[in-house]
Amino acid sequence: MKKYFSFLLMTSLLSAFAQQKNEAIFPGKIWKDQSGIPINAHGGGILYFHKTYYWFGEIKKGKTNRAPDISSWEDYRVNAGGVSCYSSKDLVNWKYEGVALAPNKTDSTSDLHTSRVIERPKVIYNAGTHRFVMWMHIDKYDYSYARAGVAVSDKPAGPYHYLKSVSPNGQMSRDMTLFKDDDGKAYLIYSSEDNKTMQVCLLSADYSSPTAAYNRILIGDNREAPAMFKCQHTYYLITSLCTGWDPNKALYASADSVMGAWTMHDNPCTGPDADSTYHAQSAFVIPVAGKNNDFIFMADKWNKTDLEHSGYIWLPLKVIGGKPVIRWKNSWTPE
Ligand code: DGJ
Repeated sequence: MKKYFSFLLMTSLLSAFAQQKNEAIFPGKIWKDQSGIPINAHGGGILYFHKTYYWFGEIKKGKTNRAPDISSWEDYRVNAGGVSCYSSKDLVNWKYEGVALAPNKTDSTSDLHTSRVIERPKVIYNAGTHRFVMWMHIDKYDYSYARAGVAVSDKPAGPYHYLKSVSPNGQMSRDMTLFKDDDGKAYLIYSSEDNKTMQVCLLSADYSSPTAAYNRILIGDNREAPAMFKCQHTYYLITSLCTGWDPNKALYASADSVMGAWTMHDNPCTGPDADSTYHAQSAFVIPVAGKNNDFIFMADKWNKTDLEHSGYIWLPLKVIGGKPVIRWKNSWTPE
């Protein structure tokens, strides 16, 4: 009996200390954090700070429902679960850091109420204020609110304190991303004008408000899911077409400055399923630390009727001869 109990004690101690070890990234397959729990960080973005990568994303948990009063498009949704944060040194193994921005469970007028939409969170660091600034898409269940929300923290993983939501310069803001340039200036890039046209807006010096400096880009192209990066002296913007949760062909645009002019080009994805972005939608492009032409393309493989179980497609992106090229891999490791 005594032996049996010590065996039980040993095995439970071992499993308590056992950590999930991922050998590689397997695009589209279940990706577990170090505790062995599937990562829940959709529409995400990455902050690189003090040699650590922080992955922020939408917490999608629970049953997916379709809004019954909307028939013009498939408004599948889960309750807004706030924003999660994971950290990693190698981009393959991720430690759960907790809820970086909590939803509001009681006040239905709050931007962060669980009945609302909190999507595509992105975080950048402000070297002047020493604060981490998170921007995200804030909406009502039917996407009629179309605003950008902002939250701040003095620690990378949070908790983040929600400040406000804005309509930048009176304009709609839905799918969005952030881009921080080498000169420290930061920009909000968002689908505007009912998703017909994107806009780029310079943020204030503390990154917490839009300024009056903005430009209309990709005019009339119906693009969303923006992911911006810079290689050498060129800026790139990968976007999708607006087809709800269904995948479509990504396109990239390029420019000599963030504010434009932007020129639309071709699909950066190559090989089988390139025309559906490998059944996924762009979320972010990670510059690989210390490598000039190497990036990682992050995309969401939405499972529209069960959004919690949507997957992640991360693939290497290389800029070759001025053109971003993404190639499918069943598994791979960032070097
Ligand atoms: C596509 C967007 O890219 C997603 O973030 C989400 O807003 C869905 N549309 C909602 O249908």
